[in-house]
Amino acid sequence: MDRTTKVSTQRPAIRPQALTVSPQARAAIKSQRPRCIWLTGLSGAGKSTLANALEVRLHEQGFHTCLLDGDNLRQGLCGDLGMSPEARKENIRRIGEVARLMVDAGLIVIVAAISPFRADREAARQLFPQNTFLEVYMSTPFDVCVQRDPKGLYREALAGRIKNFTGLDSPYEAPLAADCEIDTGELELSQACDRLWALLHR
Ligand code: ADX
Repeated sequence: MDRTTKVSTQRPAIRPQALTVSPQARAAIKSQRPRCIWLTGLSGAGKSTLANALEVRLHEQGFHTCLLDGDNLRQGLCGDLGMSPEARKENIRRIGEVARLMVDAGLIVIVAAISPFRADREAARQLFPQNTFLEVYMSTPFDVCVQRDPKGLYREALAGRIKNFTGLDSPYEAPLAADCEIDTGELELSQACDRLWALLHR
């Protein structure tokens, strides 16, 4: 893990504390089915745009949501992490744990993060009760992402000024059995949003 401070390597003796109000009770008060819908894919694949559109639609319909976007989390909670494989693993571990807490609180959580490694996404899935974690593969082709280059990062990376860039000198492992696949080079934003809406309500 780069740029992090290891406070201690010794695991303290911690016993779980029983809580009286259950996740189910919290969800019931909101009259919604809490879920984590996790968008994975290359930079520029449209994760943040689609996540935002989905949250707007859910919010307008009275659902209580939270959107965890990788770029934003890297300003705070994950601001100490770089882009090495180890740092990305820790990034996804933290995002998964936060998403899990929010699902326990009764929210519909949308995650938008490259999350390039299968094992890390699988570890995140394992944190959630069955059928609560929905993996969405944003399969927009690499060439389309490079052409869009919304933040100018591909240009920088191709010029060798950013190292460990996903899809260039850092790998992206596509899901083998995603719950949904969306190529925003093919689908309009509203159609993509319809797909996720259907996924959440099936
Ligand atoms: S992840 O791989 O650990 O899941 P995350 O989604 O949090 O990544 O952050 C990716 C964002 O960081 C991208 O949207 C992009 O704006 C920015 N970024 C900066 N450096 C890199 C890099 N080397 N590879 C990919 N994205 C990068």
